[in-house]
Parts: sequence; C-alpha cells; structure tokens
Amino acid sequence: MKKFITFEGIDGSGKSTVSKRVYEELKRRGYSAIYTFEPTDGEIGKCTKKCIDKGADPLVIALLFIADRIEHVRKIKKWLEEGHIVLCDRYVDSTYAYQSVQLEGQMEDPLEWLRQLSNFVIKPDRTFLFDIDPEEAISRIKGRKTTRFENAEFLKKVRKRYIDIATESRFKILDARKGIEDLVKECVKDIMENDGD
Ligand code: TMP
Repeated sequence: MKKFITFEGIDGSGKSTVSKRVYEELKRRGYSAIYTFEPTDGEIGKCTKKCIDKGADPLVIALLFIADRIEHVRKIKKWLEEGHIVLCDRYVDSTYAYQSVQLEGQMEDPLEWLRQLSNFVIKPDRTFLFDIDPEEAISRIKGRKTTRFENAEFLKKVRKRYIDIATESRFKILDARKGIEDLVKECVKDIMENDGD
C-alpha cells in the first residue's frame, strides 16, 4: 500500500474535491489517514497567499512556497513515522510547474534552480496529476474566489509544464474530465496496490 500520496493539477482540475473524497473513503475502510495541503494554513502559507494576491515578485513567491514546505515536510515525516497514510493536496510539483513558468526569463533554468532548492523534500509514493484543458478548468471555478494564477494563458503553460515533469514512475496522469466518483475509485484502487509498482 502506498503511504505518501500527492495530488497535483491546475486550478479547477477537481483535485481538491477528489482528494478529500479519497481521504473519506480510506477512513471509511478503517485506515488511519491524514489530509493536508499546500500552501498550508500556517504563518508562512498564509503569508504566501497574501503575497500572491498583492502581486509580489515571483522570486519572493517561489521562496515562500519553499519555506512553507520546509515546515510542512517536517510534519509529514512525523505523520508517516506514526504510521498514517498522508494525502497532500499540492506539493513540490506545484512549485516546479507554477513557479518555473512564472520565473521564465528571470534566470537561465528556473526548473533546475527550484529543484536544487527542494532537495529537502521526501518523495511521494504516488503523485496523481489531474489533467484538464484550462478553459474547462476555469469555467468550473467561475464564481469561486480566484487567485492571480487563474487565467487560461498562464494555466496552459502550467499544464504543459506538469506533463513535461511527470516522467518519474511515481506519477499517474488522470483524465480530470471523468466523474468525481470514478476518479475517487481509480485513486483508492491505486493507493491500495503495492508501493513501487
Ligand atoms: P490552492 O488554490 O490549491 O489553495 O493553491 C493556491 C494557488 O497557489 C494555486 O493557484 C496554485 C498556487 N501554488 C503555486 O503556485 N506553487 C505552489 O508550490 C503551491 C503549493 C501552490
């Protein structure tokens, strides 16, 4: 069984809804699971969200996401050591996808720079990537409080970057247009299978 699972995708891909349902399903089956997310609701996570809203420098935003994750990883390690399954809505791949696009033109190889600053992270056993066309994703989140990142042109680049980085075997790309319950079933089945398959 997989123990550390992350959920990734562009805004409006439905990953938060599905990941919460997966959490409920694992609890219903008697597993000890923890649901967590990034940006966190800790001091640095809250500050990161404020800085995005204010339109802070992308370099500052990148470093804040990483700082928030440093504290979060400590907690995740502890939960895993205690024997919980940890489900995390957004993790290091969000930084690789969003910030590498945001930092384009500011340095030679933003993705490589972000990877070097992220050598403290622990590797998920599985990363579900919810793939969807940005226009469709945006139409889903109309009416919800949005961030500066939620525009189709930017999200198109982020979607492509996600696909480009999803080369390791820990990734499973899901068609996010499928129904919620089908996606939940697919994720739960996959989590129950052996690690490292
Ligand atoms: P949320 O809507 O999932 O709470 O995430 C808030 C926004 O932050 C979302 O547009 C994605 C973005 N984000 C990044 O750009 N980099 C990151 O590392 C994380 C965790 C989120």
